[in-house]
Amino acid sequence: MEKTLAIIKPNAIANAEEIEKMIIKDGFTIVQRRRVLLSKEQAMEFYAEHRDKPFFSDLINFMTSGPVLAMVLSKDRAVRAWRRLLGPTSVAAAIKKHPDSIRARFGSSDTENAAHGSDSAESAEREIRFFFPDVTLYPILSGMEARDF
Ligand code: PPS
Repeated sequence: MEKTLAIIKPNAIANAEEIEKMIIKDGFTIVQRRRVLLSKEQAMEFYAEHRDKPFFSDLINFMTSGPVLAMVLSKDRAVRAWRRLLGPTSVAAAIKKHPDSIRARFGSSDTENAAHGSDSAESAEREIRFFFPDVTLYPILSGMEARDF
């Protein structure tokens, strides 16, 4: 099973229970969950790839404005499946094209777009380690095959 990182952003924390129900209904397993308040330094590290974007400081201010809920989700092709359930980054596009998506239902702008999802398996591995450094993604087992933790 593939794993991905989901973050319920500060503007949607009040809807976390409903979003978790949507996640379970879509066939994901919530493997780990952690509610945290990010420091500016942590948010800047997490979003380092966007540091030169004009919206960077808005993004950091928003992501540190309140608690977030980080979750490791597991499912077949989890990265793609979670981004599909999320909907596009732009809430306007989400409402127009994917009205049942999480961003359409709980987002209010491109900044306050309710939730985050890793964009590739490589990003997922890095992002899961960021929030869950104690999680072993690929444990070394006595047998030859890697298994889920
Ligand atoms: S980009 O430029 O295509 O890489 O950007 P994108 O992947 O669409 O978005 C990256 C994250 O930045 C957030 N974002 C914004 N924040 C604040 N203001 C504006 N205008 C803005 N536009 C995009 C967006 O919510 C993405 O956050 P994550 O957590 O990755 O969903």
